[in-house]
Amino acid sequence: MITVGILTISDGAAKGERQDTSGETMRTLVTQLPEVVISTGAIIPDEQDQVSATLRVWCDEKHLNLILTTGGTGLAPRDVTPEATKAVIEREAQGIAEALRAISLKYTPMAMLSRGVAGVRGRTLIVNLPGSPKAVKECLDYLLPVLPHAINLLTEGPREH
Ligand code: MTE
Repeated sequence: MITVGILTISDGAAKGERQDTSGETMRTLVTQLPEVVISTGAIIPDEQDQVSATLRVWCDEKHLNLILTTGGTGLAPRDVTPEATKAVIEREAQGIAEALRAISLKYTPMAMLSRGVAGVRGRTLIVNLPGSPKAVKECLDYLLPVLPHAINLLTEGPREH
């Protein structure tokens, strides 16, 4: 069983001013993987402390296998998802972020504007995706086949904490 958290980080969606289409896209695509359960989901504003706090609870208390975030990875002053994620991860998974940017550049040069990171806290893998449903789909189409092996690696061996 792969337990997944879907975190939408968007001021507009958190206020209910716009629909969380990206979160819905993530849910639809990730459930194509076998044995996936979406255990939890939230829509929160672009507040660094709130993003970090949510990630910590989902890793340390809910012990999710995977957290996918969408939004807040760009250059706007309110885009703080990468900083919030870096504050909680213990090991960075640079290859995932590099691969997502590389594949995204095949769709649009705007991909270079996403500062999304990926990394591990405990046995949870956290991956930042950009904010649009289009970007979410382009990234997940590439990432999904790799996730079962990544999660296997994280869950094998004795627990340290
Ligand atoms: N990646 C893919 N695959 N497809 C896209 O359309 N859009 C880019 C980029 N990454 C895009 C993409 C754009 S326009 C921006 S501004 C950055 O992601 C950051 O988006 P965010 O601030 O919503 O996270």
